Amino acid sequence: MKTRWYKDAVFYQIYPRSFCDSNGDGIGDIKGIISKLDYLRDLGINAVWLSPVYKSPNCDNGYDISDYRDINPEFGTMEDFKEMLKGMHDRGIRLVMDLVVNHSSDEHFWFQESKKSKDNPYRDYYIWREGKGKDGKKPPNNWTSRFTGKAWTFDEKTKEWYLHLFTSKQPDLNWDNPKVREEVANICNFWFEMGVDGFRCDVITYISKEEGLPDGKGLPILRGDEHFVLGPNIHKYFNEINEKAWSRYDTMIVGEAIGCKLKDAPSIIAEDRNELDSAITFELVQVDFKSDFLPVKFNLRKFKQVQSAWQNLPSNCWPTLYYENHDQPRSITRYGNGYGIHRKELGKMLAVSYFMLRGTPYIFEGQEIGMTNIYLKPDEYVDVMAKQIFTIVKKVFPPLLPFARWAMSKRARDHARTPMQWEGKQGCGFTTGTPWMKVNPNCDDINVVSALKNPNSILNFYKKLIDFRKGNDIIKNGTYKEYYAGNKNVFCFERKTGDKAYLVICNFKEKNIPFNVDDTGMKGAKLVISNYPNQEDVLGDAILLKPYEAVVFEKGNSDSKRII
Ligand code: GLC
Ligand code: CA
Repeated sequence: MKTRWYKDAVFYQIYPRSFCDSNGDGIGDIKGIISKLDYLRDLGINAVWLSPVYKSPNCDNGYDISDYRDINPEFGTMEDFKEMLKGMHDRGIRLVMDLVVNHSSDEHFWFQESKKSKDNPYRDYYIWREGKGKDGKKPPNNWTSRFTGKAWTFDEKTKEWYLHLFTSKQPDLNWDNPKVREEVANICNFWFEMGVDGFRCDVITYISKEEGLPDGKGLPILRGDEHFVLGPNIHKYFNEINEKAWSRYDTMIVGEAIGCKLKDAPSIIAEDRNELDSAITFELVQVDFKSDFLPVKFNLRKFKQVQSAWQNLPSNCWPTLYYENHDQPRSITRYGNGYGIHRKELGKMLAVSYFMLRGTPYIFEGQEIGMTNIYLKPDEYVDVMAKQIFTIVKKVFPPLLPFARWAMSKRARDHARTPMQWEGKQGCGFTTGTPWMKVNPNCDDINVVSALKNPNSILNFYKKLIDFRKGNDIIKNGTYKEYYAGNKNVFCFERKTGDKAYLVICNFKEKNIPFNVDDTGMKGAKLVISNYPNQEDVLGDAILLKPYEAVVFEKGNSDSKRII
């Protein structure tokens, strides 16, 4: 059944709320997406990961679903959805939806029933426990929510606590209950029947909790992980849902593997295991953030270690390649000086640095035009994570507030969620009304309309790079070898099949770096990709790399188109 089409895919992630608003209410919607399908086709991508569009009270912008089989009216109707899906398929674009089933919304019918009484048939759809202490007023264990605070909420009616690893409006589903698993399989089949091509499974590594829910060790930040990341029954549950749903259609199932180390990824993604097709692991995004929240200086050597570890996974594991998504700040601001005069070179260099690797690359909306982080005043943050952090710091230790604000100015998820910058005008071409979230003031300079006009834009470079990857066997199947792993400035690697090879050299510094390529044995190779004009056509013993320069030299192949 599975053709593993995703191995030839380039994904584009749409965060619907921020992508394009068709009716002027300030909120992106499905008709807005439909109006941009030609843009996506022209970009060259052939798969979309769509963040949740299901019915939701939006405590976490759709990652809290109250009806898995319906569309949130602010995004449109089921008819709109079907039209969008057809529009994508007509253009050769597959659609992968977000499946958020570690938890539901507390407004989902199941939870509404579940909290009614201890013997309600839906009680066991969620994780209810008695409290500790004489009067049961202490939570059942010391786990903490991923957004800070307790992972448990007390319910007055039935005098028990329910578990929520995110906000209290996102109760965790009880996967140990076979009925819950059956429901999830049915939901998947419902969408597959409609023609959806797969799912990105939200925090799917959290679904199996250790029996007895033992206390966690460590600081009260993300406490409890060791008892639910890749928990005891996870493989059984993945196998089961494969049998009942995922493997019945030609799907792509990519798991958000939060907490999962790269070295453990094969246990859930190796092809013969019938679990996931690929995993989004977090080690790369943790190079410059500790414990998910604390910004630390970007360290290229660590970054390279992670990339190489990913590339060196066993050959029956397929990597996911990404720098950005709706939870991460903008890569151009994180990995370099995205506001500087070399912004364009930086954006292109980053593109080369991951598009030449083995795996499926993902572009997050706006990344292709080099959208940056935004400056927000404390009361301009709208995301639940930043808000909860500010609230808890204010309550527990107010002197830390300036520090928390500094951390969020770098880390908040809001940076990724500012409206897509289509045009340099009021509302940035995203909306004619008042946008739900502040537009980045740099929209006048950084926007799609001007990028399309400029042959040297990041956008036009992405188009050429996407085209370059298509059908390219060295990129898809070639071996990977890193050179100069200890170098603090440059990421250098080779991709090779037989006697054909690429040498990729990326300067992560905003200054000239002389770089000796002796070890690579690629002298004489021919330039095929470059983000500056006037680079040498043939590789010598050394190369002088300009600020954020990226070059790819090719050996043994003569038909590659050259990209500048
Ligand atoms: C994932 C999503 C994130 C959401 C969380 C809870 O990490 O990507 O946006 O807040 O899960 O559903
Ligand atoms: Ca709208």
